Amino acid sequence: MNHIEDRINHLLGQMTLEEKIGQLNQPMIHGLPGLDLLRQGQAGSIINAFGALSGQGFDHLSSAEQCNALQRAALESRLGIPLLFGRDIIHGQRTVFPIPLAQAASFNPALVETINRIAAREASAVGIRWTFAPMLDIARDARWGRIAEGYGEDPYLVSRMAEAAVRGFQGDDVSQPDRLVACAKHYVGYGAAEGGRDYEQAEISEPTLRDVYLPPFRAAVAAGVGTVMSAFLDLNGVPATANRRLLTDVLRGEWGFDGFVVSDWESVGELVQHGVAEDRAHAAALALRAGVDMDMVSGAYQETLAGNLHRGLISRAEIDEAVRRILRIKFRAGIFERPFTDPERASRDILTHDARAFARQAARETMVLLKNEHHLLPLRDFRRILIAGPFVHATAELFGTWTMDGRAEDVTPLDRAFQDVAPSGVELWFAAAPDLALARAHYADAIVLLVGEHPARSGENANVSDLGLPPGQLEWITAMAAIGKPVVLVVFAGRPLAITRAVAQAQAVIYAWHPGIEGAAALAEILFGLAAPSGRLPVSMPRATGQAPLYYNRKPSGRPLIDDGPFRTRYVDTLTAPLFPFGYGLTYTRFTYSDLRLSSSRMRGALEVSALITNVGEQAGTEVVQLYVRDLVGSLTRPVRELKGFQRITLQPGEARRVMFTLREEDLAFTRADGSWGTEPGRFKVWIAPHCEAGLEGEFEL
Ligand code: BGC
Repeated sequence: MNHIEDRINHLLGQMTLEEKIGQLNQPMIHGLPGLDLLRQGQAGSIINAFGALSGQGFDHLSSAEQCNALQRAALESRLGIPLLFGRDIIHGQRTVFPIPLAQAASFNPALVETINRIAAREASAVGIRWTFAPMLDIARDARWGRIAEGYGEDPYLVSRMAEAAVRGFQGDDVSQPDRLVACAKHYVGYGAAEGGRDYEQAEISEPTLRDVYLPPFRAAVAAGVGTVMSAFLDLNGVPATANRRLLTDVLRGEWGFDGFVVSDWESVGELVQHGVAEDRAHAAALALRAGVDMDMVSGAYQETLAGNLHRGLISRAEIDEAVRRILRIKFRAGIFERPFTDPERASRDILTHDARAFARQAARETMVLLKNEHHLLPLRDFRRILIAGPFVHATAELFGTWTMDGRAEDVTPLDRAFQDVAPSGVELWFAAAPDLALARAHYADAIVLLVGEHPARSGENANVSDLGLPPGQLEWITAMAAIGKPVVLVVFAGRPLAITRAVAQAQAVIYAWHPGIEGAAALAEILFGLAAPSGRLPVSMPRATGQAPLYYNRKPSGRPLIDDGPFRTRYVDTLTAPLFPFGYGLTYTRFTYSDLRLSSSRMRGALEVSALITNVGEQAGTEVVQLYVRDLVGSLTRPVRELKGFQRITLQPGEARRVMFTLREEDLAFTRADGSWGTEPGRFKVWIAPHCEAGLEGEFEL
């Protein structure tokens, strides 16, 4: 038995039942009365979040002093077990990076890793050692507000980002004081909430659960994630927080996860509302037995577990096991050795020059150029440019959801960012009001329209029934476009919006997401050509709200849309295809794909697939080269395409490079008709492609 397990056993041997249950309890603490609770060893962790809208406020900041004071009280308890401070550090702490959905658009796991490495350094400087991130929920329905917090619709892409995020937060050694324990959430299926309504139920078949929703969590576990959060939702009739099969048999039994599971906010107590528990005691017993080790905020564990034990509803061994898992992570996090945070760190480690520079880099890599008629962008040869729209004076509006520690005053405002990079001689006019904008538009040579969603319109429970732009914005775009000047549309959003009519009226469109603290600067650089856009869509962009749920890796159906026959799957009032497909994005140069090669027409264990990518434009550029497969015949129906690899490459004008992928047999495995996981022999298609609806096509056999 290793050193940590010895220390855990030693502690377990000394702990009273009350102290053990204390470790399973994660309260929120307001002020001094809470200190007694800590001195009695009745909390294992503190959640530093205050208020119901914790994701949207800036008023309750964490500080090293505050955490240290609470820690001191915990160390005064009989056994002196330190607290683990948790907080939602979702896309940066004080240095706010683009929202996770935007980060996914980079198709650059190294970028995600660095973002979270910086976030860990900043958050740990104010005493936090545990974050409730990354969110790994596959989201196929853009109405769901939390699509902003995850990495999009594709299990392969989300899995790669999951590993990167875990590495970024935890590093190789999570006991280093500038690291955070990560938490893979929300296990599992939460993104499939019916109708896009947060907290609602989902019905997901076992093969889809296994092949689509579980892989990112499995990847996070393989990357060593310390904790997992159980979701709010009712999945196939079993609330996720009471799902023993998923929390214990799959997560621990099949995948070997040895960290701890925390419930989502009050989700233990909510088992009563779900109607699977008689009362809070029953709820606590169900959750603990399912494999939820720590109760976030509901208090049900603390109130009822001792009674449950005496009534025989749970066993002493079950309590000990939960305590053991929590202590294991506390030991790994090094907080027994270093319970306090040096308050000096905050001034050294937060909002550094490097962090800001990286935030700008991240924003550059995440914006997606969707349209660029006649090379309108980058803006050249325009003397008077009107910059208009509701986002003209945006600061904190650029952050997006879940930014408790970002501050509006840190943001480089858009007008300043534009002034900083516009070539000399260019006049910039700004207008945040539609009537002023219209009056000026006649005298401008080009118009940049900044539209989109306020951050409060995405994130937890910020669901929409209409994926169009917020009220009034389309009218504004139409009025401006009618003037006849070239229009560049920039959309800030936490989700893929249905912007069909807006796109039709603009000559160029940049999808900027919520780009964070340096988003304005990155946007200005892209508009004026100091940087080229390189993001690609991590979600399908809908034409109409009614297309939701919308995702590229769907099943073919018996009547696929291969011709325009009347009885093919379709809508009578719009197309079935997305406005822009998954993986799509332009840049300021063009690439061609040629000469697809397969190392063999039969896969034996693995296969090399390659193609020649050439930059045929006039400037350097970055392309995200994507590998897709299709299993043509299976014992269960198989998706029309599945992403299996991607590479970001930068090529100089005229440069060509052979991009090589290794496809392994396990990449073709899926949940088969008999429930087992593996491959089936037969024919496969393979593509090397710029997005999911194009590419060079080949075929091989397994
Ligand atoms: C959210 C979680 C979050 C938790 C703690 C819940 O409402 O669903 O994602 O980590 O609150 O703030």
